[in-house]
Amino acid sequence: MSFVRSRRHLLRGALAAPAIFALSACASRRGGRGGAPIGPSGFDAWLDAWAERGRAIAAGQPHDARAEDALVHELCASLSRFEPGRVPRAEALTSFGEGLRSGPVRVEGALLLVELELGPHAVVPAHNHVGYDFVSVGLSGEAQVRHYEPLAGAPAPDPDPARVDGRVFQVAEVQRVRLSPGRCSSLTRARANIHWLRAGPEGARVLDVGLHFPDPGPGPRQFSALDIYLEARDRERGIYDARWIGDPYR
Ligand SMILES: [Fe+2]
Repeated sequence: MSFVRSRRHLLRGALAAPAIFALSACASRRGGRGGAPIGPSGFDAWLDAWAERGRAIAAGQPHDARAEDALVHELCASLSRFEPGRVPRAEALTSFGEGLRSGPVRVEGALLLVELELGPHAVVPAHNHVGYDFVSVGLSGEAQVRHYEPLAGAPAPDPDPARVDGRVFQVAEVQRVRLSPGRCSSLTRARANIHWLRAGPEGARVLDVGLHFPDPGPGPRQFSALDIYLEARDRERGIYDARWIGDPYR
């Protein structure tokens, strides 16, 4: 599989942009939380509501796995009210691999919005997520996103390529979504936590919305990219061989 920069690196780049903090200060408190159309005017109300949810998470309010699943499904549902062509854009996009660019849209405490632009057939390689729930919603074009969970007996991920346990283990494919405008996929710390994306022939633009938890909880405690074999070991059950490859950008 071709290699590009990891998600963690993407997020690091996103958080490094100071302009977004100035933008967040402009968020309006008007509009309420329910029923407002999502567009340039409704976006601020949406942002306020979800920033509040993020603050509760950052404060360490308890979250069990079912509540966390419900949370991202609610986030998906709320994003479905976006008119994809009217979602605020990142002020600047930075290249992070062949055919891949990203940039921050907003950061509000534990809430992170990142725009991801994939050129035709561009691939974001498989990687896990530490302490994050994520919802990806298509804004334009199409991309396929596939999600996996490690089966019992998988070694722990390690970002250090020299130390990572590169033994082959098995993952189960648990979700496959064709992201088109307005459609979304989601992952939590414990569910569907590994994913990779491949854009269609016309490329794709995707909004990633992340909620950051103060603790990795039931999810992985270390970041790593991984190779996942495209040929299934067990096609009927969607089981694939995989191996951790660490974070080569450390
Ligand atoms: Fe990701």
